[in-house]
Amino acid sequence: MPTELKQNSVKPETKARSFGENIESDLAPKFIRVVENAAIASARTMGRGERELSDKVAVESMRRTMDSIPMHGQIVIGEGERDEAPMLYIGEKVGAEFSDGTDVPRVDIAVDPLEGTNLCATGAAGSITVLAASDAGGLLHAPDCYMEKIVVGPSCKGAVDLDASVAENLGNVARRMDRTVQDLTVVVLDRSRHEKLISDIRAAGARIRLISDGDLSAGIAAAVIGTGVHAVMGTGGAPEGVITAAAIRCLNGYMLGRLVINKPELEERIARMGIRDKNRIYRAEDLAPGNQLIFAATGVTDGALLKGVRFFGEGTRTSSIVLTLMTGKVRFIESIHLTKKDDVKVRFA
Ligand code: FBP
Repeated sequence: MPTELKQNSVKPETKARSFGENIESDLAPKFIRVVENAAIASARTMGRGERELSDKVAVESMRRTMDSIPMHGQIVIGEGERDEAPMLYIGEKVGAEFSDGTDVPRVDIAVDPLEGTNLCATGAAGSITVLAASDAGGLLHAPDCYMEKIVVGPSCKGAVDLDASVAENLGNVARRMDRTVQDLTVVVLDRSRHEKLISDIRAAGARIRLISDGDLSAGIAAAVIGTGVHAVMGTGGAPEGVITAAAIRCLNGYMLGRLVINKPELEERIARMGIRDKNRIYRAEDLAPGNQLIFAATGVTDGALLKGVRFFGEGTRTSSIVLTLMTGKVRFIESIHLTKKDDVKVRFA
């Protein structure tokens, strides 16, 4: 057994295992710590009205914890380009290596250290810390632009189309879910760009939940029965779309996305990234094509699926979800992080 771990020191020449082995089982428990620690750090800033601070502490925490994990990690979706982000920038190497040269797994990582920075800054519901990881090449290197998205659950595979009318899509979803359109709830980001979408959903008769931020967690909720979310529609961040797709694949849901390329700079950017067809409709399998996928998220503030971080005298309590594709695990994890050892009292819930 290797004993010494050199933190933050993975070098390109480090012997790296490919994802051919079962790395999901190896890394998923370690990634829980990454999202848990980041959630605790940003939850401490909840309600301070400082979104940059809330994001910064999550980024720093994620990076610190990742650098304690034996792996050859590469950030493929992160805080931006190297010159605009000091940490977790695209292309950054993260992880630790063993001093005796024992092989470490090679992974691509997409992070959204704090999804819903405004939500955390104002203490509103639905902010999470989140990441997805895959075998090399298993996550689309999406540009930081918008993406038109539609996300539905497992019973609605193939029932929706980005080019179909809202009424047609919702009619198909309702039929697949054996209910009327009036019994559907659609989550939409509350943005002026969605004026027509919102009026079309209203005209079709479905109920709407407008959210101020956080279409990533809404997307996950749409793929889990019992959350009360039946579809997510509209335009949000493309990086969030890729991370959502990783979760959707693990949950056997259905998602379509199309990049919104509306500026010449973006045209050039996607061309440099090797994306030829700007109108391509991506399925979850195209956005997150990895053979092995890990998705991990922890609630920062209370949400539909995850409770926010709770601080109590003796420690902290976190709620997380960890999904893996190949090994087919869906784990809801409640952790109690004890700070006081003497006289500690642990409550059941
Ligand atoms: P942050 O994590 O940067 O706060 O983004 C939250 C979010 O609401 C995403 O969930 C969503 O995809 C995107 O922003 C929408 O972007 P915009 O606020 O520009 O409409």
